[in-house]
Amino acid sequence: MNPPTTDPAFEISLRPPMFSEFTGQRKVCERLELLVAAAKKRGDVLEHILLSGPPGLGKTTLANIIAHEMDVSIKNTSGPVIEKAGELAGLLTSLEKGDVLFIDEIHRLQPTIEEYLYPAMEDYRLDIIIDQGPQARSLRLQLPKYTLIGATTRAGMVSAPLRSRFGMTARLDYYSAEEMQKIITRSAGLLAVEIDQQGAAEIAARARGTPRTANNLLRWVRDYVQVKADGRINGELADRALAMLEIDRDGFDQWDKRIIETLIHKFGGGPVGLNSLAVAVGEEAGTLEEVNEPYLIMEGYIKRTPQGRVATSNAYRKLGLKPPAGAQEQLL
Ligand SMILES: Nc1ncnc2c1ncn2[C@@H]1O[C@H](COP(=O)(O)OP(=O)(O)OP(=O)(O)O)[C@@H](O)[C@H]1O
Ligand SMILES: [Mg+2]
Repeated sequence: MNPPTTDPAFEISLRPPMFSEFTGQRKVCERLELLVAAAKKRGDVLEHILLSGPPGLGKTTLANIIAHEMDVSIKNTSGPVIEKAGELAGLLTSLEKGDVLFIDEIHRLQPTIEEYLYPAMEDYRLDIIIDQGPQARSLRLQLPKYTLIGATTRAGMVSAPLRSRFGMTARLDYYSAEEMQKIITRSAGLLAVEIDQQGAAEIAARARGTPRTANNLLRWVRDYVQVKADGRINGELADRALAMLEIDRDGFDQWDKRIIETLIHKFGGGPVGLNSLAVAVGEEAGTLEEVNEPYLIMEGYIKRTPQGRVATSNAYRKLGLKPPAGAQEQLL
């Protein structure tokens, strides 16, 4: 059974609206808060910001918080959605001074669109070519001063020229168990569900350091206790509810298990290239790399080497196997 997926309205309802309600990512938040305060003090427009990190850690949330704290409007789009220069022009010209343009998955912008973005970021101008052939003319649009916030799950795929045009880049990291508990308790409050500390801890342990996962698991546990108990969440009930989803105490779901099983049983523990591993697992290489792998690497089950992915001794132990001599120990 797959873990419950995200419902956009549910997600928005739990999104912290300001820095003071945003748990964790202390360093990133401190720097962002400082930038916001400085820009406000000068009466200036905030510089362009690039947010990176694995899915569900709060990039979109932070972009909205920044706009809220700057007291400006935010327009949302995403890299693959912008197909023509005219669409980018439409978005940029609809902004008012100080507004935020949020481009999600900015690493997936087409190269030609990216070229248009460079002067639009640097000099707030857009040179659009209209017509083709001998009639082709270039039209220069002056844009209001605005703030571009880009988000990416793959910082390495943002081209150097694009990256260099951001005034600040911030990388979000997985949350600690303590932070996760705090987030779960806050979300439970918003959902008007009673939860005790053990209940929050059980959910936190399986949420892979990811608030989105935590909220989805919380929603499942809430449904479970409403049907099977009196609607209040405690440790034992949370444990039973989550066991039904086949998510184990390390936060492993079926995919994670399948990845390390494949790596060990089909490829002798590696090294194996990402694409071969993805085909064998039956998942897309991109998803494997962006969604499952970062957590498995962080927890020390997989290592990325120049030759390919390698199972660590932790991965063998996870499957109840004895690590072969020479298996890589967990990276600390
Ligand atoms: N620090 C936090 N405190 C409380 N809740 C959070 C925090 N960060 C994220 N969340 C919750 O997690 C959900 C997912 O966050 P968000 O949509 O910002 O992630 P994202 O990094 O943009 O993910 P993606 O890469 O998939 O777009 C939000 O709905 C929000 O409720
Ligand atoms: Mg997002």
